[in-house]
Amino acid sequence: MSDQNESIHGIWTSRWVFILAATGSAVGLGNIWKFPYITGENGGGAFVLIYLVCIVLIGIPILMVETMLGRRGRKSPINAMSHLIAEAKARPWWKIIGYSGTLAGFLILSYYSVIAGWALYYGIGMVQGQFAGLGAIEVQAVFDGLVASPYTLLAYHTLFMVMTMGVLARGVNKGIGKAVSFLMPCLFILLAILLAYSFSTGRMMDAAEFMFSFDVSKLSKDSILVAMGHAFFTLSLGMGAIMVYGAYMPQNASIASTALTVGFFDTLVALIAGLCIFPIVYKFNLDMSSSDAGLLFRTLPIAFAQMEAGMFFGAVFFLLVTFAAWSSAISLIEPVVAWLVESGHSRVKASIVSGVLCWFVGIGTLLSFNEWSGIEYQLQGKTFFAWIEYITANFMLPLGGVFMAIFAGWVMKDTKVMKELKMESEAMYVVFRVIIRIVAPIAVLVVIVNALK
Ligand code: TRP
Repeated sequence: MSDQNESIHGIWTSRWVFILAATGSAVGLGNIWKFPYITGENGGGAFVLIYLVCIVLIGIPILMVETMLGRRGRKSPINAMSHLIAEAKARPWWKIIGYSGTLAGFLILSYYSVIAGWALYYGIGMVQGQFAGLGAIEVQAVFDGLVASPYTLLAYHTLFMVMTMGVLARGVNKGIGKAVSFLMPCLFILLAILLAYSFSTGRMMDAAEFMFSFDVSKLSKDSILVAMGHAFFTLSLGMGAIMVYGAYMPQNASIASTALTVGFFDTLVALIAGLCIFPIVYKFNLDMSSSDAGLLFRTLPIAFAQMEAGMFFGAVFFLLVTFAAWSSAISLIEPVVAWLVESGHSRVKASIVSGVLCWFVGIGTLLSFNEWSGIEYQLQGKTFFAWIEYITANFMLPLGGVFMAIFAGWVMKDTKVMKELKMESEAMYVVFRVIIRIVAPIAVLVVIVNALK
């Protein structure tokens, strides 16, 4: 099956569609809220520098590994791994990479869809002008009211799931390819509109100072871990989303330069997002003490409620969040859909079955915010939602990434890896090899051990 320019699911019409799809997967809540925030918290410019080193040194090499495994296997992560294992005559338990990654994507989507539903709800609310003129307390009450209502959450979770599965049902090029070719340019335009607004607040310099001032005293030893964990998360590594997109990549496209482009766009969006959000935070004196999604949904809307044309900018902002989440969501469950298609089901049926199952698991998450939030429903102090999030983000994704790197570095034949990557320079290849064999596995294991403490 090696060196073929075919998969039963189709091949992207060009290298650029892969770049858009992978960037679509990578750009998500992680870029829009998490990155700007952790940057500010960890000493700005110094942290950005460490983060960039982590992206280049660990993120991009593992991104290359995932793409390479997918393209060589030319199938869903489960079957691609089986093929590569047979090719390398490796032990069958390596198959766990495919299964655990596919399961991780499914589990992540079950809660991602609930949160994306919030963005949909806010976007629609802004368009209707529901937030106009509200004060801080009323805006927060909207959020509290939303998460307290299982039926409202269910409606938006269902809508988002239908949007996601609708794209997948149409196939690789007609569905995913078309969707990302529309969503990603829109996302950049929406970002540009917000950036223009943020310049007009007159607080851009404060934002830039918060994000880029070189305050080494704020760097802690945890900063490196935060940067490394985030590099991994923001590039969507470790579960097979990039692998399955790699399976549809044209054979002659260069994996290294493509991976660099995806890493570049992902970082660009993260930096611009910070420069959009912080001027607003400063201008409206918002409290930025909570670093989680709550800030996006509880605090930022206060500014939109009060600013001139706030409903317009609010709608733009939440449309942006929705689009970012949408293009990530389709990559989360494509490994399941592709695997079902390979088992003989039609794409439409595969999308419906996996979508309904994932929707059902998501109900556990939406109840975690209301009916099941009580202590009697928790296990070790964590709700259903918190458990899924904790296990996938801290263990399944990083472990998946380590095993992929070890498989490509130690198990696969050197010549096959090199051929698939088509790296021009021998020296670069040697560096790449040292990274995936030694540096990346050790770095990621340190992150995991630290998450356990
Ligand atoms: N990269 C996404 C973000 O920055 C989140 C994410 C992590 C993800 N792993 C993923 C998205 C796998 C899709 C697939 O928000």
